[in-house]
Amino acid sequence: MKLMQLYASLKSDLQTIEDTLAQSVSSDLPLLNESAQHLLKAGGKRLRPVFVLLSGKFGEYDLSRIKYVAAALELIHMASLVHDDVIDDADTRRGQPTVKAKWDNRIAMFTGDYINGKALVVASELGDPRIHQILSSAIVQMCIGEMEQIRDFFNTEQTVRHYLLRIRRKTALLIAISCQLGAIAAGAPENICNALYRYGYQVGMTFQITDDLLDICGTEKKIGKPPGSDLRQGNITLPVLYALQEPPIREPLLAEIARIREKEGAADSAKAVKLVRSSKGIRESEKLAERYMEKALKELERLPDVPARRNLADIAKFVAQRSY
Ligand code: IPE
Ligand code: IPE
Ligand code: MG
Ligand code: MG
Repeated sequence: MKLMQLYASLKSDLQTIEDTLAQSVSSDLPLLNESAQHLLKAGGKRLRPVFVLLSGKFGEYDLSRIKYVAAALELIHMASLVHDDVIDDADTRRGQPTVKAKWDNRIAMFTGDYINGKALVVASELGDPRIHQILSSAIVQMCIGEMEQIRDFFNTEQTVRHYLLRIRRKTALLIAISCQLGAIAAGAPENICNALYRYGYQVGMTFQITDDLLDICGTEKKIGKPPGSDLRQGNITLPVLYALQEPPIREPLLAEIARIREKEGAADSAKAVKLVRSSKGIRESEKLAERYMEKALKELERLPDVPARRNLADIAKFVAQRSY
């Protein structure tokens, strides 16, 4: 099934989640209301809610319960984006000005905190301490991942393993628990919840590697933000690490990265991007993303053959090849 068809088949359930999201972030305080609704209205793929819904199909699917899990995960994701754009000094997201650009960093800080708080409020509706605990630790891990990214800015000596550990915390765990919690909220057996967690983890790794590739190879129109942002910020991602291993590319790329660093965010990263694009780093990164995708598909084989299993396989393939 094409992704569009999958979204169409989930349309009414996704609408319920959209309503839950809108209600949960609404506030009597106009400034908070506007800043929190801003990102919501800008759209996004709603991938984490889709993972929750599909995973819920491995148990007793009950939208009136599962919608709270899906909304909580999208909110945690959204809050992380509002904060991430402060760290990355990013002006556009989802094709719209970021909260920090439209308002300022102070507003973005508290908007992110507010949305995170709301995520936990929504999750409380389920009255299940285990779900709360899993969500809270995911927030903690994500913060550690983002902090590691700051620590590793401009570190051209870091290893691929280093990078993988960082994106595991930053991105993959949230996708893993989206799958796990969808199944838990639907009362699915433990072994199924665990297999879905592992599937989500592998897809999450694929997802961030592709995200990092898109930052190098994508166009602003497709990715909703200017390409080359990671390098401009000093975020050394997988394609760059691989490119640095390539003798003719290494020296000029190191020089470009050093130049970007000196200019403290004001530099143009076009030349560095061009070097990485011309390296084997692109293909190597695609290969690693595909490897994670294959592992995700393997995990699915352990699950019962319900239609959602096919949908999850399609999403894994989409994530590995996505252009937005
Ligand atoms: C972007 O996530 C941030 C990462 C974890 C790479 P998405 O690409 O899922 O963002 P939206 O929700 O579709 O905007
Ligand atoms: C996403 O990371 C942020 C989190 C996972 C918290 P990125 O910095 O790579 O995401 P984009 O590229 O800004 O969407
Ligand atoms: Mg970012
Ligand atoms: Mg990125």
